[in-house]
Amino acid sequence: MAIRRLFVGGNWKCNNTLAQTKDLVNSVLNKLHFDPSKVDVVVAPVFLHVPWVAEHIQKPVQVSVQNTSLTGTGAYTGEISVAHVKDLGLNWAILGHSERRQYYGETNEVVANKVKYAVENGLDVIACVGEHLADREANQTNQVVEGQLEAIRGKLNEAQWEKIVIAYEPVWAIGTGKVATPAQAQEVHEFIRSYLTQKVSQNVSQKTRILYGGSVTEKNAGELIHQKDIDGFLVGGASLKPAFADIVAACNIVKH
Ligand code: PGA
Repeated sequence: MAIRRLFVGGNWKCNNTLAQTKDLVNSVLNKLHFDPSKVDVVVAPVFLHVPWVAEHIQKPVQVSVQNTSLTGTGAYTGEISVAHVKDLGLNWAILGHSERRQYYGETNEVVANKVKYAVENGLDVIACVGEHLADREANQTNQVVEGQLEAIRGKLNEAQWEKIVIAYEPVWAIGTGKVATPAQAQEVHEFIRSYLTQKVSQNVSQKTRILYGGSVTEKNAGELIHQKDIDGFLVGGASLKPAFADIVAACNIVKH
């Protein structure tokens, strides 16, 4: 029995018409072949497409949202609450993506509060962390990632870590075609795992999936997935294409 089942997330971001989303589901997602005991496959369409996708996708593929509200249901114009996600029978949310941090003012504190609220209300969370290029060039990568993790850790008890998948996504690699080298990615993944060992527990450190995200393609997935502490991917651009099937195939393995 694997300690950490691998994980491939498809983050569709703010892309696709409904017709394009239907085509992606029918022509790519519903033709995937993978063993759900080896790999979780989770896709995150735009909110308005989520109900259609949830209804029509083949079942081993799970559906996520890309954000949730910090508040519950009620007078919160424009928001979509965790209760709405649960009401559709869905279990996953991507939270703290760098685009949310960068364009919508989500601070470490906001992200941590969203993670806490989502977990307490029954969602599993793909919590995103990652440094900007300037941080990396100033040798601040670990400090930045640690600050993001610390904010989240401060809100969770040990048992709640069962509901967390961490996505390490260096901002300079997202959508740029500049993928982190396997060694660069592994170095940060190892740092995150040792952070979990020291600050949470050995058990959580061994069980938590740590995904890499940032220009993952069918060409680089095979090498990246064999890095010791890489447990899968959060895929943006390539998750909108047939290449996603090759990335899932590269992760349809037992590694640990
Ligand atoms: P990308 O995006 O694969 O297009 O670089 C990854 C992400 O933002 O999750």
